[in-house]
Amino acid sequence: MSTLTVIDHPLVKHKLTILRDVATPFPTFRRVLRETTWLLAYETTRHLRVESGTVETPLEEMTAHSLPNPAPCLISILRAGNGLVDGLMDVMPEAAVGHLGLVRNPKTLLPEEYYCKLPSEIEKRQVILADPMLATGGSTIAAIDRLREKGVRNLVFLSLLAAPEGVEALQSAHPDVPIFTGALDRELNEKGYILPGLGDAGDRIYGTE
Ligand code: PRP
Ligand code: URA
Repeated sequence: MSTLTVIDHPLVKHKLTILRDVATPFPTFRRVLRETTWLLAYETTRHLRVESGTVETPLEEMTAHSLPNPAPCLISILRAGNGLVDGLMDVMPEAAVGHLGLVRNPKTLLPEEYYCKLPSEIEKRQVILADPMLATGGSTIAAIDRLREKGVRNLVFLSLLAAPEGVEALQSAHPDVPIFTGALDRELNEKGYILPGLGDAGDRIYGTE
């Protein structure tokens, strides 16, 4: 069974309250999501491999560590995934970035793929898949199925909020993928929205309806 890590941190809690608040305007939502991602990134990247080499400081040579080559990669589940990937890129500018366009059909709640562009040598890279909302789990499971087809082995998933239904579905479809999230919410409503949640993440990031 894959591990579920709820990233328990006072600043994450504080920023999540701002993100959940219906009165938060989208420019603030976008900024606070980015700041929250920096904090989530600290735990989510803890497993990354580093390689040792040498570096010349102004005083002497020393053994030091760097990210491997090819570098890790970030995959955004469009479009809301970009809200997390923007913050992840701030702390990991070396990362290659891929995009998977998936949109949830509002009637069936099933994800439909409309775009896929992935970095080269993805099978050799450590991959962080990002989407702010793990609701039914359908989009994340479809994204991981696609990445597996491309040979990805080393993979973790990061969300901002997760519903118990989505965690269970993801753990049973991909039991080897560790899940990181900022909070585990109560349940889904009949329209597949997370309760209490924060509404539609994509709309709140981009100011759409
Ligand atoms: C939202 C969200 C996830 C998906 C989660 O995206 O960003 O991708 O729903 O739901 P699930 O776990 O039930 O699949 P949406 O389909 O609304 O697309 P968007 O990011 O373009 O707004
Ligand atoms: N997608 C969202 O953006 N929000 C939810 O609550 C569920 C799916």
